[in-house]
Amino acid sequence: MKVGIVGATGEVGRQMQICLAERVKGIEELRLFASPKSAGQKIDFQGMECTVQVVKEGCFDGLDYVMGAVSNALSKEYRPMIEKAGAVYIDNSSAFRLEEDVPLVVPEINGDDALKNKGVIANPNCSTIITLMAVAAVHQNLSPIKKMVATTFQAVSGAGAGGPIELHEEVIAIEKGEPVQPKVFSAQIAYNCIPQIGSMNDNGYSTEEMKLQNEGRKILHAPEMDVNCTCVRVPVYRSHSISATFVTERPVSVEEAEEAISRFPGVKLIKDGLPMPIDTSDQDIVYVGRIRRDLTDPNGLVLWCCGDQVRKGAAANAVQILEYIEAHK
Ligand SMILES: NC(=O)c1ccc[n+]([C@@H]2O[C@H](COP(=O)([O-])OP(=O)(O)OC[C@H]3O[C@@H](n4cnc5c(N)ncnc54)[C@H](OP(=O)(O)O)[C@@H]3O)[C@@H](O)[C@H]2O)c1
Repeated sequence: MKVGIVGATGEVGRQMQICLAERVKGIEELRLFASPKSAGQKIDFQGMECTVQVVKEGCFDGLDYVMGAVSNALSKEYRPMIEKAGAVYIDNSSAFRLEEDVPLVVPEINGDDALKNKGVIANPNCSTIITLMAVAAVHQNLSPIKKMVATTFQAVSGAGAGGPIELHEEVIAIEKGEPVQPKVFSAQIAYNCIPQIGSMNDNGYSTEEMKLQNEGRKILHAPEMDVNCTCVRVPVYRSHSISATFVTERPVSVEEAEEAISRFPGVKLIKDGLPMPIDTSDQDIVYVGRIRRDLTDPNGLVLWCCGDQVRKGAAANAVQILEYIEAHK
């Protein structure tokens, strides 16, 4: 199998190499692409020396899969070249997620959708993946979710490789009594929370906040599910956390929900203790806990979940999509 990664030197692209090495056997060629700044850099992949290249005409020829880890604008620019080369494009940006002909896939939830691809598959938003992993067992096995109210607590690495550097530099500057100069984030992130991620829509919700409803409907095959979401950037290096309240068609007991969630692949129910981002970092399992009754609605439940957004929220999920397609050939 021949695989390419565009954005190979970024937060997701680097993790993609680790996930490919962990999960996929028989990669005979790994072609790495990044900006001119990184061109020529040598990266070891399972004993193979890969030289980072820039994207140019014909550079994707001969590849079976291209894993995308670049911005929306670059993903749109490179898509026609990848399609022309005949490779399957598994993209982490949000550029194509809502297109009808592009499956939007979390393999544990709607893996079969990936098999209907026409050359492009989208990896969902990171908080959406983690939240849906937590609630899918209830939606698919007990009672459909009609509506959900969620608040996300998103780690700085979700903003790319520059996020953790900015948090670290701000902590040091503050310790020294020096002023902080935010570049990646809109305000100081050290010792702070920023209650906006993405640009604002006319409806008062940000682009990031609307993803849970728009992408959630597509992944769960629930076109009428309504979602209110508030996205908050928090000074955590890695792993997003989400507080979710959801209302199902029929009342579901806490015990039923716990039983279903504990059996769902890729999810760990935490009954003794608390799911925390520090515990979910650097692995692919989503932790779910604090399941309790919603005191405002008899059909409602409340839970807390955490997951590594660079792994399960991006790179690992994308690699799982590749694995799913290969396993169903
Ligand atoms: N970080 C997350 O937790 C997360 C989660 C889910 C989805 N995503 C999405 O995944 C994508 C990548 O995010 P990231 O966090 O990995 O960003 P990042 O750390 O900023 O990395 C961006 C990558 O794009 C490369 N790049 C820049 N200009 C390029 C060009 N002209 N041609 C080819 N490559 C170029 C960069 O290369 P250089 O190093 O050479 O500049 C780098 O490898 C984004 O669409 C993001 O929204 C991120």
